[in-house]
Amino acid sequence: MAITLAFDVYGTLIDTAGVITLLEQYVGSEASAFACLWRDKQLEYSFRRGLMKAYQPFHICTRDALDYTATFFHKNLKPSEKDKLMGEYQILPPFPDVEEGLSPLKSSGFSLFAFSNGLGEDVRSLLQNAKIAHYFKDIISVDEVKTFKPAPEVYRHLLDRTGTVAHDTWLISSNSFDIIGALSTGLSAAWVKRSADATFDPWDVKASITVSSIKELQERIIIK
Ligand code: LAC
Repeated sequence: MAITLAFDVYGTLIDTAGVITLLEQYVGSEASAFACLWRDKQLEYSFRRGLMKAYQPFHICTRDALDYTATFFHKNLKPSEKDKLMGEYQILPPFPDVEEGLSPLKSSGFSLFAFSNGLGEDVRSLLQNAKIAHYFKDIISVDEVKTFKPAPEVYRHLLDRTGTVAHDTWLISSNSFDIIGALSTGLSAAWVKRSADATFDPWDVKASITVSSIKELQERIIIK
């Protein structure tokens, strides 16, 4: 049976720091810190909505997090500027190693899926814009089960949708909360650690493998 590789999207295939160039026009030298807090709050809001069973699509978490971050940095962004920043989120760039990493994986017979907190249509336009949509058999969104990673339901849903079992399925992610969520549902998980200072959560759990780029997966994925 073909091994299924489910790729996280934001932060793994697609670089959320891609908003920094536009942010520099609005917030100057604080752009990088602004982008970090925006991303952290976006994820926090998804976790909280999951816990509260108050699901709203991921772009609502992103927009609420933008409002929070603008207030935190005392930036009086106009609604049109916020709309432009949200638009930028739809055309974020892929990380440079992604295309050369996905191509050999697909040709060697792995079944590739995109698996994201984002709405299916948002992820589709993002992957199309990044010119990597054709590598994936399908896009699986948490919206189909109305909760967020790392709820166990979303990883079980991934298995249902791909028609695979945990034993034959790997999650590929740079987000350690996602890795821990997948491992605790019985999947294997590869942590993509692109920078030396990326830090894995110090829980009593380790990724099945750690790679520094998508390219490395080809030789490191162990067929059990
Ligand atoms: C995603 C989140 C983790 O793409 O950013 O699912």
